[in-house]
Amino acid sequence: MTSPAPSASAASTPQPEHTPVFDTAARRSAPHELLGLTSPAYGGDYNPEQWDEATLAEDLELMAEAGVNLVSLGIFSWARLEPREGTYELDWLVELVGRLHDAGIAVDLATATASPPAWMATDHPESLPMTADGVRLGLGSRQQYCPSSTVYRERSTALTRVLAERLGEHPGVVMWHIGNEYGCHTAECFCPACAQAFRAWLAGRYGDVERLNAAWGTDFWSQRYTSLEQVTPPAAMPTFHNPAQLLDWRRFCDHQLRSLMEAEARILREHSNLPVTTNFMGDFPATDYWRWADSLDIVSDDSYPDPADPAAAHEVAWAGDLMRGLAGGRPWILMEQAPSAVQWRGRNSPKRPGQLLLWSLARVAHGADGILQFQWRQSRQGAETFHSGMVPHAGRASRTWDEVVATGRALKRLGPVLGEPVRAEAAVVLDWESQWAMSSAIGPVELGERFEAARAWHRSLWETGIATDVVPVGAELTGYRLIIVPAVFIDRPELARHLEQAAAVDAQVVVAGPTGVVDAGAEAVLGGYLGSLRPLLGVRVTDHAALSGPVGPEGFNNDSRGVLVNRLSRAVGTPAAETWTGLEPIGEPLRRVLDRMGSPAPELRAGGWAEEIRVDEAPGDAEAAQSRESAEAVAVFDDRGGGADLAGRPAITRRAVGSAGAAWYVAADLDAVSRAALLTLVCAHARVRPVVADLPDGVEAQRRGEILFLLNHGDRAAEVTGIVGTDLLTGQVCTGHVVLAPRSALVVRENTR
Ligand code: GAL
Ligand code: ZN
Repeated sequence: MTSPAPSASAASTPQPEHTPVFDTAARRSAPHELLGLTSPAYGGDYNPEQWDEATLAEDLELMAEAGVNLVSLGIFSWARLEPREGTYELDWLVELVGRLHDAGIAVDLATATASPPAWMATDHPESLPMTADGVRLGLGSRQQYCPSSTVYRERSTALTRVLAERLGEHPGVVMWHIGNEYGCHTAECFCPACAQAFRAWLAGRYGDVERLNAAWGTDFWSQRYTSLEQVTPPAAMPTFHNPAQLLDWRRFCDHQLRSLMEAEARILREHSNLPVTTNFMGDFPATDYWRWADSLDIVSDDSYPDPADPAAAHEVAWAGDLMRGLAGGRPWILMEQAPSAVQWRGRNSPKRPGQLLLWSLARVAHGADGILQFQWRQSRQGAETFHSGMVPHAGRASRTWDEVVATGRALKRLGPVLGEPVRAEAAVVLDWESQWAMSSAIGPVELGERFEAARAWHRSLWETGIATDVVPVGAELTGYRLIIVPAVFIDRPELARHLEQAAAVDAQVVVAGPTGVVDAGAEAVLGGYLGSLRPLLGVRVTDHAALSGPVGPEGFNNDSRGVLVNRLSRAVGTPAAETWTGLEPIGEPLRRVLDRMGSPAPELRAGGWAEEIRVDEAPGDAEAAQSRESAEAVAVFDDRGGGADLAGRPAITRRAVGSAGAAWYVAADLDAVSRAALLTLVCAHARVRPVVADLPDGVEAQRRGEILFLLNHGDRAAEVTGIVGTDLLTGQVCTGHVVLAPRSALVVRENTR
């Protein structure tokens, strides 16, 4: 070794790289205050440049009929606004904003930088993005820019400035819409400019090449660098990438995109006092929205659940709870949803009758104070010709139009909901960097890219009717009665501290693996996974046991006749080739829960993966032992299925903390039934109850302030009792017993609570 290796701790304290444009956390107001709304915002993307004057005049009439009060304008107008480099034509836009304003329709004005005009591609071909295989992507669709491109950066900020100067004080503009869905198509670019920017970013993070070598573990596979100039993006390579390099690459790509948004935000701030937003895409994996949200005044989301998916209503709930979390608990705006079908799925199902209104109300129930769609008028040309619009190809004589009008009417009545908070006693912790670290790791288990574990636990709570917040790893957690930490792959000492504090004041903490497996630099946690969560949970994970899923009856040899002759291998058991593993409850409480769930009682099962864990013994000295109970098994693996080699070992543990708190660990990928059973038990300990108890199948309840949303997602009429108040949608008084038609909702201002 020629140069001394720097200490690991020096390498693991990289420079902070995140400075929000402004500290909105302190000053962020509710969207309705910022936008001057008296009822939820309603409207959509408006692209009048695709149409003629007569259509425009009709649009204004139809918008009045539908109750539209906000449109997003100019998102893909760059080619019209700057037809030649440096030549701006804004008059048409100013006139349009004026006409909308006169018609009482406010404008969410785009900075129009989502898709550069043709001249940028032809005159500056280096502005085009490059794939990992070195292919430059071409012009002719959208988002064809490299996030590090100097010319893109210069021209996009120049356009933003021109727009802000010209329209920043126009009374018709109420907010700024920066870019559009950053990263949706081009989340990473492997061009020389990005390689250069990556090296500069790494230099800022690590200072010198030796710290980078230590942080990336480059002594593995002879990857050691002698100069930062040698470092490249993780483009196409012979085999597995270095996980630490991948993780930093994801951080860098997020940073590059975010810096584009922040550069525009900064300029808008200089010229205008209007709130700024950029449209998020739910739990989009490439961008750490916790960081993005810090630089925005209003959090907004685009969300396209598939009407053909029975869990689509959960997607609505999940996205809503996440957006509310990103907004720091305040309301947010739905920037895009499809009025009916999209065009980009293999099969594009229309929304079912009533579903546009129902899902819109569900979004409001989860904290939205505005409901916008993509798009106002269905395009007649281009790639989105067959994506639904609020005004469909068929025009007014259509179900879509009727539902659009009905939705506008309903939202008009929901003024009292604006600004009202959702109060949840349960929280799910979500960490983008952990998702990145898990995806960057080669093994130990394949869990997907989109927070599958967090979604699963959130869904179980939602199916049970429990209101849930989604919170970042750094959040203060006291105040929650139930906190779920699902697959937070990076060991987060701060999270451990907050969980300990919450458990000490009687919260139930449920940690599910794989959690605490690596540190923030993708380096494995030694001495048992779970890292800093070990003292709280009283267990450590000593190994992962992935199940390899469906293979033939003879394991990896799919030749079913081979068993006749394969004397040696036919005697070998392969539990890991199973897709599931059985669990056995220990002790009465969980057994009782299962007994109440059905007869015969359902069994506990898990699939995908399991873990070998050890219970840590309570400390030897008596005094310490008193304050520190050891964990007990709530369920063990049994010898059925893939966990056979773990039979008898703990699969779910519980450690009592303080007077009534507890820390639970789940060492297997529980299925829906098992999650539900466990949550029944945990919720009883936590004294967390559904928003409304004993609801019929299909009916969701959520509360904002004193307003109760009853949402019947089901195909049958549903009866709910004990509802006393006034339905804001109809003005009808509810005196106890209400009936909800299929796919319909009540929004009840309750008068007895
Ligand atoms: C979004 C995008 C819109 C439109 C829509 C179609 O991703 O922001 O411009 O393309 O999808 O579903
Ligand atoms: Zn690039």
